[in-house]
Amino acid sequence: MNKVIDLRSDTVSKPGEAMRRAMAGAEVGDDVFGDDPTVNLLEQKAAELTGKGAALFVPSGTMANLIALLTHTQPGDEILLGDESHIFNYEVAGAARIANVQTHALRNRPDGSLELADIDRAVRGPNIHSPRDPLLCLENTHNRCGGAALPLSEMDALTGLARRHGMRVHVDGARVFNTRAALGVPVARIVRDCDSLSFCLSKGLGCPIGSLLCGTREFIDAARRHRKMLGGGMRQVGVLAAAGLFALEHNVERMTDDHDNAARLADGLRELDAFAPNRPETNIVVADVIRGDLTDWLRAFSDAGVLAVPFGPQKLRMVTHINISRVEIDEALARIQRVAGAVAV
Ligand SMILES: Cc1ncc(COP(=O)(O)O)c(C=O)c1O
Repeated sequence: MNKVIDLRSDTVSKPGEAMRRAMAGAEVGDDVFGDDPTVNLLEQKAAELTGKGAALFVPSGTMANLIALLTHTQPGDEILLGDESHIFNYEVAGAARIANVQTHALRNRPDGSLELADIDRAVRGPNIHSPRDPLLCLENTHNRCGGAALPLSEMDALTGLARRHGMRVHVDGARVFNTRAALGVPVARIVRDCDSLSFCLSKGLGCPIGSLLCGTREFIDAARRHRKMLGGGMRQVGVLAAAGLFALEHNVERMTDDHDNAARLADGLRELDAFAPNRPETNIVVADVIRGDLTDWLRAFSDAGVLAVPFGPQKLRMVTHINISRVEIDEALARIQRVAGAVAV
């Protein structure tokens, strides 16, 4: 069997030799005591890169988002977020179950943005009957919206509106370094007017684990208590933070390669006349299946050694990442073409 080309997600990437060496050589200490020098360095670096005062190393993007909700809200509050957002769809209703907030989902436009008028309508005034609306959650890049990178004009309009309503803004920036690569502007500018940002090390940045939650020093001090409550206080995790430091140094500039590969993959799928893929701005290809059945396609892909995931009734998703070269994209397309006749008749 040929090598499997795994395009299910950028989370499947594996650390390379140089990253493993950095991990093996890391200085460590007990991070719950604040004693791990490598974690401290990573948190400092994340705070610098995002233009926030402080940062907190956590095991996952899901935990980073949940801690943000716990820190920004009180039980019984309401949060506004997109109906295609990761927090709303894929975080096991942690907002409801653990942060005890009501989610008010607003329609995401296909480009991942939200209508300003929908936010205006959704925000409730001071009224004894209504929950408070202290928080707007954005996602950039937007996973379910095909890795769309929300432009600065959109970010500025949304944060400006939130400000006028007296709301804070949290950005789920699991892939914000992909936004940076797509827009060509620093992360600190993208989230300039946002109160908090989570970003993942274990996606496009190619680390085995880890996310950073970034915000003011006061916010992060409070977030640290919530991390402990959730069981996310870790000990000698400099070995993991070292991977993050390595990635922020070496794996950021190369992300445009993943974006070029995703564009090539989408073009190739379009040429098969069986798929209607997005025009990816970053590393995520989402394609409607327009001929044949999704399940049959996914099985044929898999038999041919190409992995994708279902992403809706007749939709699939493929994500490019650090372990996928241009040659492998062309090979994946060639394999798909070879099986196409058998599926889409
Ligand atoms: C946009 C977005 N936010 C958050 C997460 C959660 O990250 P994790 O899998 O590390 O919990 C993901 C994971 O795919 C994601 O795509």
